[in-house]
Amino acid sequence: MNSQQSTPSSTLPLLAIVISTFLSLIPNTVNASCSHEFSELVHQKNISYCKTLHTLDAEFGWKYQNFTNFITLEILFSAKLNKPEGWIAWGVNPGKRAEMTGTKALIGIKHPDTPLRADTYDITKEIVTGCHLLPSKISELQVSNLSMQYEGSNLYTMYARLVLPSDLYNITKLHHVWQVGYAVKGDQPLYHPTTLDNVDSTETIDLTSSVGHSTGQYWGFLRSVHGVLNIIGWGILLPSGIIIARYFRVFPFQWEPTWFYMHIACQLTGFLVGTAGWIIGLSLGHASRYYTFHTHRIFGIIIFTFSTIQMLAFRLKPKMTDDYRKYWNMYHHFLGYGLLVIIFINIFQGISILKGGKQWKWAYIGILAFFGAIVFGMEIFTWVRFFILKAKRNRSDKSKSGETTKQKSIRK
Ligand code: HEM
Ligand code: HEM
Ligand code: HEM
Repeated sequence: MNSQQSTPSSTLPLLAIVISTFLSLIPNTVNASCSHEFSELVHQKNISYCKTLHTLDAEFGWKYQNFTNFITLEILFSAKLNKPEGWIAWGVNPGKRAEMTGTKALIGIKHPDTPLRADTYDITKEIVTGCHLLPSKISELQVSNLSMQYEGSNLYTMYARLVLPSDLYNITKLHHVWQVGYAVKGDQPLYHPTTLDNVDSTETIDLTSSVGHSTGQYWGFLRSVHGVLNIIGWGILLPSGIIIARYFRVFPFQWEPTWFYMHIACQLTGFLVGTAGWIIGLSLGHASRYYTFHTHRIFGIIIFTFSTIQMLAFRLKPKMTDDYRKYWNMYHHFLGYGLLVIIFINIFQGISILKGGKQWKWAYIGILAFFGAIVFGMEIFTWVRFFILKAKRNRSDKSKSGETTKQKSIRK
């Protein structure tokens, strides 16, 4: 009895540790200060503020002065280029949103045959369809002192002074975008990858706040919340409920009816938490215009459908005495274990889509190893107990049959 009561209370702190571990993996979305390396460069240029941008390992430093009709801006932008050729870009967008089309960009190009160079480019909507992106003078922006530099360890920076007209640009809501590409032709930057990191590289920043408060990291945050909820719901609570049903129902422990309440408590909370994560996933998928993760999406839908069918057990489970109860048991077991396999695959898929999630991967591998150790220990314990009981039964059967023969012979 004691052990029955202590188990749920000892699993709670464990669950709290797991949840806080995953929550700590959610990137700090605001106030990301810049690296020590970049801070030094910023200091050398006498620039006031800097921040780490949320994708592509890029960093941004700025200093501004606000006049009646214009804003002067000094910027330092850094990103890594670990291929022999490539380009780094930073730009401002006077339109309604922080996006690529309409951006007035500064692009620095690296090519093994030519020295580093940087120029201004106008990114029109034709560029998306494959038009050549050539340097062009941008009438609405005055750009001076534009340069690109190699800082060591694959780190490249771009520095420039800009004059922005106040009627087109708002210093407290400046739409800026950045990008990195690995293909160039002469002074033309060519296409860039379109991974999540590359299409998320936009934000609307308030340059007057020392930390550059921004919007645009919202999606990244929601993706992490989606991952955490799915891992906790489908990836931790559901397998825990299955372990309870397997090892606390008949063998090696018989916790009747506690196992049942614990099983449905785990499965119901797992289902609710997982469904919340799944809905966030669907809405994220709906909101992203440029890509769909087909396999992840289909697996996600299968997981939700199968577990909804499992939850029907609340209403449609035959009684223990019903003839077809054994078929229900078979289907419930089969669907339950099948579901587990798809869940594990989809969690690793999600982690690889999220990129930059090595900690996520190892945190979940750790959880799986923990479950694996419990299952391994319980299986050994079950089989050892099974053989001991079997041997005892055999012995008592033998002694009973010995007694009966004795009695029979006496009666004879
Ligand atoms: C070199 C020529 C370029 C080509 C061919 C190109 C192409 C593309 C394509 C095909 C997409 C996918 C989205 C869509 O279909 O609209 C995209 C997205 C994006 N690109 Fe580029 N791009 C180029 C240069 C740039 C530059 C220089 C920047 C940054 C200054 C940039 C920033 C972005 C951003 C932030 C996105 C995410 C979607 C959005 O905000 O519109 N791209 N690009
Ligand atoms: C997503 C939700 C669920 C999953 C994935 C799931 C999975 C499982 C699995 C894999 C087993 C077999 C464990 C074993 O013995 O090896 C099991 C047993 C069982 N589950 Fe569930 N379950 C879920 C929800 C429910 C609900 C909501 C109920 C009842 C309201 C329920 C009632 C039972 C019962 C009674 C058994 C024992 C069956 C037997 O006698 O063999 N399950 N469950
Ligand atoms: C078994 C658990 C999971 C389920 C059921 C699930 C479900 C989904 C669904 C339905 C989508 C929408 C796909 C689309 O329409 O393109 C999605 C997207 C996504 N999921 Fe998951 N997911 C799971 C686990 C994870 C995990 C663990 C992570 C990361 C740690 C993750 C990261 C993502 C990302 C980054 C997207 C793309 C969001 C976007 O389009 O902006 N998922 N997921």
